[in-house]
Amino acid sequence: MKGSNKIIDEIIESHASDPGGLIPTLLKIHEEFGCIPEEAYPVLLSKFAATRIQINKILHFYDEFASDFGNKNIIRICGGFGCSEKGSLYLYEKMKQMIAEKKTIGTDINVSVETIPCQGLCGFGPIIVINHQVYTRVTAEKAEKILSDLFFDTMTLKNLGFVPGRKSR
Ligand code: FES
Repeated sequence: MKGSNKIIDEIIESHASDPGGLIPTLLKIHEEFGCIPEEAYPVLLSKFAATRIQINKILHFYDEFASDFGNKNIIRICGGFGCSEKGSLYLYEKMKQMIAEKKTIGTDINVSVETIPCQGLCGFGPIIVINHQVYTRVTAEKAEKILSDLFFDTMTLKNLGFVPGRKSR
């Protein structure tokens, strides 16, 4: 990108002296370019004494950077003890299965599913977070409606054998 190095340098310089400046810098660069350009990495690594792995972990954690990985939507299912006791990991497998089946019939769904640690809302589990929206006490029916409303509208979790309240494997 023409002129991008100068812009990247200016953004990085404006946060380089801040001990917590890496995340604001990444957000600002992403806001400017819609991604983290490859040419930004050498400067980021040097100015923030970070590793590529550390930066990648940040990029994967925050929804703001999802477009860097081609996923505009990320379904995050709590895999903490409280939620998994209420079936969240089983729900995780089934939601992945539903999306995969949609993809095999050619539906273009830009969504991925991953687990996250305890969100401190154990009493309201299972917890699902989709693009900053938190869904509580997610049952099979609720998950089906969420997927239907947000991404597609025909399949059912029941058809895939989801049993509400069943414990994770
Ligand atoms: S275990 Fe899911 S919120 Fe705590």
